[in-house]
Amino acid sequence: MGLEKFIEIAGQQFVRENLMSDDFLDFLQENRRPYETMIAYYRCAIMEIETKFKVLNEQFSLQYDRNPIESIKTRIKSMESLLKKARNKGIALNMAAFEEEIRDIAGVRVVCSFLDDIYMLADCLLSQDDITLIERKDYIENPKPSGYRSLHLIVEVPIFLQDEKRSMKVEVQLRTIAMDFWASLEHKLRYKKNIPDSEAELLATELTECAQVSAALDVRMKEIRNRIALAEAEHEEEKKKPQTIGDVLLKKTIYH
Ligand code: GTP
Ligand code: MG
Repeated sequence: MGLEKFIEIAGQQFVRENLMSDDFLDFLQENRRPYETMIAYYRCAIMEIETKFKVLNEQFSLQYDRNPIESIKTRIKSMESLLKKARNKGIALNMAAFEEEIRDIAGVRVVCSFLDDIYMLADCLLSQDDITLIERKDYIENPKPSGYRSLHLIVEVPIFLQDEKRSMKVEVQLRTIAMDFWASLEHKLRYKKNIPDSEAELLATELTECAQVSAALDVRMKEIRNRIALAEAEHEEEKKKPQTIGDVLLKKTIYH
């Protein structure tokens, strides 16, 4: 028998004995329905959180004529990464344990143009009386060594079913466009397996520098936005002041 054939047969035998063991097949069979139900609940929780952000965006658009949110992305953790996480963290293989211990099964990512809006939106969400904060990690204040920045909130939100109310955990990541741009490129590097080590190291250093440049850009953009807002507010104040006949005549001579 040739080596290739041998490897193929050994591989199949491994899959049959381990991945397709009776225990594993029983686990799949027993947990299919509970898994689908749990994922459906998380989809509902995502809808609740996404709607809350959309409502806030709508209100700001009406009240201040601007949209603090650029985009909202949502995702449910795949079964594969759920099982991997359970395996790596030694979490029991049942849905109740997954719900209790894995806090990022449901994810909502809110992308804003400006830094201030991240904190404003987080405060608005957390002040709602059906939201419970489980954990807050501010990687903007304290970026990760990689340079990663974002504000992470693990919250609990109720979903209302036919005859019960369930609290579901959702991971909310709030970031600026610049942070999102950086994170998606860095994520690509992290999962590329075929880059030589020395090149990967250089790219990581380059990315850390880019993170600093993008953090500085966020601050400058925020300051420009605030100066524009200040100038607008001053102009509005000026318009509100009672005018004397002298002011009116002066303006007429200047403008006409
Ligand atoms: P996980 O078990 O990976 O979820 O880690 P954790 O529970 O300690 O959460 P953490 O606060 O580290 O952030 C989790 C999520 O934030 C990840 O799933 C990513 O979406 C994002 N994230 C965290 N660190 C980085 C990073 O260095 N680069 C990128 N691109 N994303 C990151
Ligand atoms: Mg995660």
